[in-house]
Amino acid sequence: PTIIATDREGREHALAADAGHSLMESLKDNDLDVAAICGGCCSCATCHVYVDGGWVAALPPQAPDERELVQDSPHFRDGASRLSCQIRVTDALDGLRVTLAPED
Ligand code: FES
Repeated sequence: PTIIATDREGREHALAADAGHSLMESLKDNDLDVAAICGGCCSCATCHVYVDGGWVAALPPQAPDERELVQDSPHFRDGASRLSCQIRVTDALDGLRVTLAPED
């Protein structure tokens, strides 16, 4: 599936993502600046993205641990903030739009 990711300079990138990988991996594989310090185990929040409004409902709901971690971010936006390591890419997400959150 193709994911449209906007970087911190406001540039849009159309990424060829692999179904089954996490969104965080797909962003990193395509050289977007996602630190992902914890490697995807939901403990660092450096993979924070904002999901475009029209896509929020298409994603599986947040697990409590993801919710807790992301809402501690100073850049948290209710309804849009997700940790990209917790989103599995599927073909149903073709066209998904996300924006990288500012670094803390
Ligand atoms: Fe650390 Fe997502 S990579 S929380």
